[in-house]
Amino acid sequence: MKSITWLIHLMLPNWRRILLALILSTLTITSHIGLMATSAYLLARAALHPPILDLMVTIVGVRFFGLSRAVFRYLERYVSHDVTFRVLNQIRVKFYQGLEPLAPARLLNYRSGDLLSRIVADVEIQQNFYLRVFAPPFVALLVLVGYGFFLARYDFRFTCILAGCFLVAGLVIPWAIKGLSQGVGRQMVVLRAELNTQVADSLMGMTELIAYGQAQAHLARIQQTGKKLVKEQRKIAGLAAFSSALTGLVANLGLWLVLVLGILLVEKGQLSGVNLGMVALGTFSSFEALFPLALVPYHMEQSRTAADRLLELIETEPAVQDSGADSPQPKGMDFSFQDVSFRYEQAEPWALKRLTFSIPQNGRVAIVGQSGAGKTSIVNLLLRFWDYDEGQINLGGHSLRDYTQDDARRFIGVVTQRTHLFNATIRVNLLLANPEGTEDELIKASQQAKLHDFILTLPQGYDSYVGEGGFKLSGGQRQRLAIARVLLKNAPILILDEAMDGLDPLTERDVMDEVIQLMEGRTTLVITHRLPGLEKMDEILVLDQGKISERGKHAELLLKKGLYHKLWEIEG
Ligand SMILES: Nc1ncnc2c1ncn2[C@@H]1O[C@H](COP(=O)(O)OP(=O)(O)OP(=O)(O)O)[C@@H](O)[C@H]1O
Ligand SMILES: [Mg+2]
Repeated sequence: MKSITWLIHLMLPNWRRILLALILSTLTITSHIGLMATSAYLLARAALHPPILDLMVTIVGVRFFGLSRAVFRYLERYVSHDVTFRVLNQIRVKFYQGLEPLAPARLLNYRSGDLLSRIVADVEIQQNFYLRVFAPPFVALLVLVGYGFFLARYDFRFTCILAGCFLVAGLVIPWAIKGLSQGVGRQMVVLRAELNTQVADSLMGMTELIAYGQAQAHLARIQQTGKKLVKEQRKIAGLAAFSSALTGLVANLGLWLVLVLGILLVEKGQLSGVNLGMVALGTFSSFEALFPLALVPYHMEQSRTAADRLLELIETEPAVQDSGADSPQPKGMDFSFQDVSFRYEQAEPWALKRLTFSIPQNGRVAIVGQSGAGKTSIVNLLLRFWDYDEGQINLGGHSLRDYTQDDARRFIGVVTQRTHLFNATIRVNLLLANPEGTEDELIKASQQAKLHDFILTLPQGYDSYVGEGGFKLSGGQRQRLAIARVLLKNAPILILDEAMDGLDPLTERDVMDEVIQLMEGRTTLVITHRLPGLEKMDEILVLDQGKISERGKHAELLLKKGLYHKLWEIEG
């Protein structure tokens, strides 16, 4: 129920338009009733051969209702779709606002296909909420009241027949269909999300699936989900047809009852014969308001399930929250970790244990250690992607927590271990770091990252497309693009998380030389598996299972004959 309240809450700012759309819907059906009723009246009167002038008003009435029906229908469609799109827009904005603070920590728990399904399909489904859940009962009620009063002028029993039919078609049939369609709406949302997830997964992992000969098996799984979805769709299509037939039956029964009563009244002289057709056909037309009601519970279930999925995401507590105050002015670009302990989840082992180290302004520290030692976790904390559990991280003389996430990230240029490139041009990918970067800056950064010469060999140079995730580039080229990007950002703190991975030794040395020059005047943290080049570091920390096991300069560490020495030996 909470999700329905949420949806209604999002609709409320548009209440004027909603009211207008409801009135227009009612007027459309009223025009339909008017058209049929006046037509029937006209035919009945014409059969009595009155002077043509006597029929003029009715003829104009038929004309009027014929036209007004079309005009109101158009306006109603226009306004109700306008409302729907506004509400969808509202939902999208709310959803993105809720989603943004969750990246990346909380979103890692979701599969990307599932996220995509929520962002696109679950939002899109909500267009049914106004059109097929909210509006139809209101319109039906308005028509019942309006036309019920009209009928009461002739005989109150007509109104009772009308109300009885509305009751059966508006409550009993939807209630029965609800029983039969129970779970279908929910299942459709779930299956669609599952299908999206499977398709997204297989597209992203296409190369692996083909290489391991699993493409067919994966396809079979997708087909299976597709079949399940079609089964549900078939079920609902069947129920839609069934409900429509039932409502049609009630409408015909209603017509028959009105006719029977009408004929009796005509016989008794309590109803004029010319009014009989008008009352009967008018009643039959008013049932137009009933047809959408049968599937209201189904659409409601679908909207609710999809809204639940949206709410589940946006109500997730972000991993890191800003204090709300403005960021302080940093006194310098130094930072320090004091007894920092951190784990990703309560139940998981510590990724970092009582970690203490500091980098003075313009200092250079390297962190080495085996895979899983916790190196990237340090970067995750510095970038405020996650919050630490114990200890204290300071940046420029203030707690890191005093800075807003955006401000903390502004000081830091980082080459992450898994660089993502967008399916855009090299230029666009580079300018991501600094949208105001000039052409000269772009070229200089690319030259420093040893990328410029390669770019010039491409037919479109900086305007060449890199493909999805940068697949048209080699691993090393991708890495150099990431380095050029961070150079362009020109932040006072530089973090390189295994930035040289994927480079051949010669290029690595060239790039490293450039990077070392770049470190001048910057506070630098280098995370690496490779030990050559570390001689130039002020301090090297050897991380082992989240703890610093050794620290010192390159030469000192070699003398210790510990883990660093061992790594050095392995590197040869
Ligand atoms: N998002 C995450 N959620 C849960 N656990 C994580 C997450 N990221 C990393 N870990 C765990 O935290 C520990 C430290 O991981 P981290 O990525 O910091 O290692 P690393 O030293 O960077 O390793 P590598 O050299 O392979 O990049 C590992 O045991 C890892 O399984
Ligand atoms: Mg790592």
